[in-house]
Amino acid sequence: MTSGIEHRRLAVVGPGAIGCTFAAVARRAGLSEVPLYGRTGVDRITVRPDDGEPVVLSGGVRTDPSAALGPVDWVLLAVKVHQTAAAAPWLRALCGPETVVVALRNGVEHREQLAPFVGRATVLPTVVWCPAEMLDRETVRLRGVAALTVPDEPAGHRLAGLLTPGGAQVDIAENFQTELWRKLIMNAAAGLMVLAGRRTGMFRRPDVRELAVALARECAAVGAAEGAMLDASAADKIVDDLAAMPADLGSSILYDREAGRALEWDARNGVVRRLGARHGVPTPVSDVVVPLLAAASDDPN
Ligand SMILES: NC(=O)c1ccc[n+]([C@@H]2O[C@H](COP(=O)([O-])OP(=O)(O)OC[C@H]3O[C@@H](n4cnc5c(N)ncnc54)[C@H](OP(=O)(O)O)[C@@H]3O)[C@@H](O)[C@H]2O)c1
Repeated sequence: MTSGIEHRRLAVVGPGAIGCTFAAVARRAGLSEVPLYGRTGVDRITVRPDDGEPVVLSGGVRTDPSAALGPVDWVLLAVKVHQTAAAAPWLRALCGPETVVVALRNGVEHREQLAPFVGRATVLPTVVWCPAEMLDRETVRLRGVAALTVPDEPAGHRLAGLLTPGGAQVDIAENFQTELWRKLIMNAAAGLMVLAGRRTGMFRRPDVRELAVALARECAAVGAAEGAMLDASAADKIVDDLAAMPADLGSSILYDREAGRALEWDARNGVVRRLGARHGVPTPVSDVVVPLLAAASDDPN
């Protein structure tokens, strides 16, 4: 007979800012075993919410996929989108036909991008809203609630049931496509932060706001062609929201740039240009921004 814990076996692949944030949620929700699978071994990681008690993930990060115990019920996949192919050995080891792979990452192409790596497992796309930052290899700062939006489907409801007791806010979206694209507009605007080397305070400049609005509106137009219910006024509001955020707020793509790492530029900005071309929607701002982000991502340390 299967015990309760075995029945809810969960593993995290990609124990960075977001992976550790949701590992901490799962621990607070009562799962005693939350293995962290990554590429850099660390003995323990502490998640420090700005407005809550720290959670110590004492099991450390394991780095050998051949030692992973699968299949599991849940894989929380939180590698950067461009790191997915390299994480394939973990997915092979952990996925079975009953597994749900929760895509804790940005972008709008989760199902099609993950399908080649997960066999018969189910992919659950999400929109991740919480700002989290690795302060160093052993410390994650969580600035706000661990919030997710998931589609209105059985796996989404089950994930909400699993993580809500641990303090996560899991919203079920009837029109999930709209929420995916709403977040993508924020991600695309964050590409401007990379090019300027500045945090969200830069959106308070009228000239930057004008540029961000043009970018946001073209993203909304591409999103609308993909079925999202977004228009120019929704795009403008997203830029207003960015300008209203704490001026020192960063973005995971900005942290990567500051550290000289490869950038998630294709999933967050390139996709606007690619899908815009497919639908015949002009993307003049992305046409300039995307090659510059791609170039900034070349030859990382
Ligand atoms: N941070 C945020 O505030 C935030 C908010 C919303 C959405 N997101 C999205 O969430 C996703 C994760 O972002 P993040 O900020 O958590 O990134 P992150 O801190 O860089 O974490 C990525 C983790 O994946 C690990 N990794 C890389 N390659 C791997 C491999 N082959 N196998 C196993 N693990 C591997 C990295 O290890 P190393 O330590 O060795 O690099 C790191 O621990 C991204 O799509 C991002 O856009 C982030």
